[in-house]
Amino acid sequence: MAKQVLVTAALPYANGSIHLGHVLEAVQTDVYTRARKLAGDDCVFIWAADTHGTPIELRARREGITPEALIERAWHEHRRDYGDFDIGFDIFHTTHSDETRRHAEAIFAAMESRGDILSRPVEQLYCPHDQMFLPDRFVKGVCPNPKCKSPDQYGDSCEVCGSTHAPTELGDPHCSICGTAPELRSSTHLFVPLARHEAFLRQWLAPLEQGGHTELQASVRNYVMEWVDGGLRDWDISRDPPYFGFEIPGHPGKFFYVWFDAPVGYIGATEKFCRDRGLDFDAYWRDPERANTELVHVIGKDIVYFHCLFWPAMLHAGGYTTPSRVHVHGWLTVAGEKMSKTRGTFVLARTYLDHLPADYLRYYFASKLGGTQDDLDLNLEDFVSRCNADLVKKTANLASRSCKFITSRLGGTLGALGDETAEIVAAAQRRLEEARVHYLAFESGKALRCAMQIAEDFNLYLTEQAPWKLGPEQAERARQVCSAGVYASQVIAGILAPVLPRWAEKVERMLKLPHRLDFAHAGTPLGAGHVIGEYEILAEPIDPAKVAAIIEASKETTPVTIADTPAYEVEALQPETTIDAFAAIDLRVAKVLACAKVDGADKLLQLTLDVGPLGQRNVFSGIAKSYAPEQLVGKHVVLFANLKARKMRFGLSEGMILASGSTDDAVTVLELDGRSRPGERVS
Ligand code: MSP
Ligand code: ZN
Repeated sequence: MAKQVLVTAALPYANGSIHLGHVLEAVQTDVYTRARKLAGDDCVFIWAADTHGTPIELRARREGITPEALIERAWHEHRRDYGDFDIGFDIFHTTHSDETRRHAEAIFAAMESRGDILSRPVEQLYCPHDQMFLPDRFVKGVCPNPKCKSPDQYGDSCEVCGSTHAPTELGDPHCSICGTAPELRSSTHLFVPLARHEAFLRQWLAPLEQGGHTELQASVRNYVMEWVDGGLRDWDISRDPPYFGFEIPGHPGKFFYVWFDAPVGYIGATEKFCRDRGLDFDAYWRDPERANTELVHVIGKDIVYFHCLFWPAMLHAGGYTTPSRVHVHGWLTVAGEKMSKTRGTFVLARTYLDHLPADYLRYYFASKLGGTQDDLDLNLEDFVSRCNADLVKKTANLASRSCKFITSRLGGTLGALGDETAEIVAAAQRRLEEARVHYLAFESGKALRCAMQIAEDFNLYLTEQAPWKLGPEQAERARQVCSAGVYASQVIAGILAPVLPRWAEKVERMLKLPHRLDFAHAGTPLGAGHVIGEYEILAEPIDPAKVAAIIEASKETTPVTIADTPAYEVEALQPETTIDAFAAIDLRVAKVLACAKVDGADKLLQLTLDVGPLGQRNVFSGIAKSYAPEQLVGKHVVLFANLKARKMRFGLSEGMILASGSTDDAVTVLELDGRSRPGERVS
């Protein structure tokens, strides 16, 4: 008997809005799940929001609401955004649930009873002002690398030299929430000695043909094996309050670290799903030998460690089903770079949806996704041209030409397919089967190419036969030719179905199909005499202006924190003043003649400015984290021209250019258009 399949995507953090990187993962998981369903598998997509941890606690505090209210709001927003992207999850639950709590406790109890929990004191930085132990990312200070010594670095790693360190090693450490110097305090923590699970993990990680348990991409397996071979370290699973999460039973005042209960959310959500539908939960999760169930996780490459070491060990210890497959996808970049708010490429899911329908992005992502961990770029011109070429020119046009001809001129009745189509029909059926196999291997790009090849074959056939040129006496021949076009559109829709479910539904409707467009039926011709319905528009060309509008709108959105981003305090207002204070500042147009990095100052750029009749100026500006020097050359900027010159370590700075940003890497320089003349006063 075929196994039932449980698929998950990583549980999105509830402390921020979802962006296109999240959508990428959701689309990959959704396409895989839909393909399996359409291939006849009993498959469910189980999902939830990840709701615990310090970032949620602090964000709620800073907004003046409870963590419960914060995660409730995020849950609604995530569900709506993913829903509008047509992500067909079977449940979207929350880790802050009774179900997740019980299973986390059960796994912990099982681990404790088999000696998997150790406790020992840990020295950690504590902020006496905020009265909390500070997670690594909430401590900032001077990088301990003697060659670097960069100020203002996080407690876990230095962004300038790339080295990693402990927060206690930072020079001049301070709490990133309030700026207070933290003190070292000791607290008892609970640890899982992962080395006790080494034998199990080695077996779980072994390739299937060597008796392994799980399907992993070779690169992922090698990556994880390096950690195993390097010696498994104890995993700290407890946190001190204030911490939004579950208190650990038998250890008052200790909370499960968010990464302990987050994946348990997969189990909790399944339990809720099974209860709602009257299904057997144990068949899914109490199946250590995996007799009934295939468990598939889809994740990004930043969280492999958690899913391929801690998680299987927890499941194994608790007697739960362990993963059959962990599929890791690459990182999404936009316009060739890490998403950036300055460039407007940090696109929230909602911002995209405000301008364009989900289908285009679903198609674009699916057409570029494959079985590897390669990063994937959303190139905006490529996005427009790919969607327009594939969805409009190749496939929608094929369907519209053939369907409309039959409905408008031939009473909507299909004819038999001509003998000369035997070869391309057989090829289409073969490609449908190939596409199914590709989808099940996470190769949606290859699957979609099968659909495009079918379209190419039949477009060529239609163009050659040119049914629209045939006179009324050859109506039956025209019917035959157009029926081939209709057939191709049906098979293509069958292949597109996991990616474009709405497209498939329309084709089901307009062809009045007697069955669903699943892999078993999509290849069967409708046959002579079948009457089809009116053509419905399948796709229209994307207007490039819409894409530009997405980027423009993304420049305005302040992205909501996704990772451990600390809360902040704002300075009090300066004393009240009048417009005269502003008039005292002489602002002039300046053209950037040259711009260069400054040796020994990572944040500074040195600008040579042309201020027209007022001559040239040398200015140092702290924008190097946001701009490459060549980006500014030739630009017209605004110079604070009557600012007293200041002697710096690197030379004299004669003025300031106007720029602002919330962080060093998100600064926007105020730019003027090329018609402004250097030296002119700016108001
Ligand atoms: N809450 C954890 C996952 C817990 S799973 C038990 C988490 N959340 S996240 O919101 O930060 O990320 C969710 C998923 O989105 C992760 O798999 C992550 O790799 C993925 N991505 C986040 N940004 C991404 C891109 N720019 N590109 C592709 N995937 C990205 O991690
Ligand atoms: Zn503090």
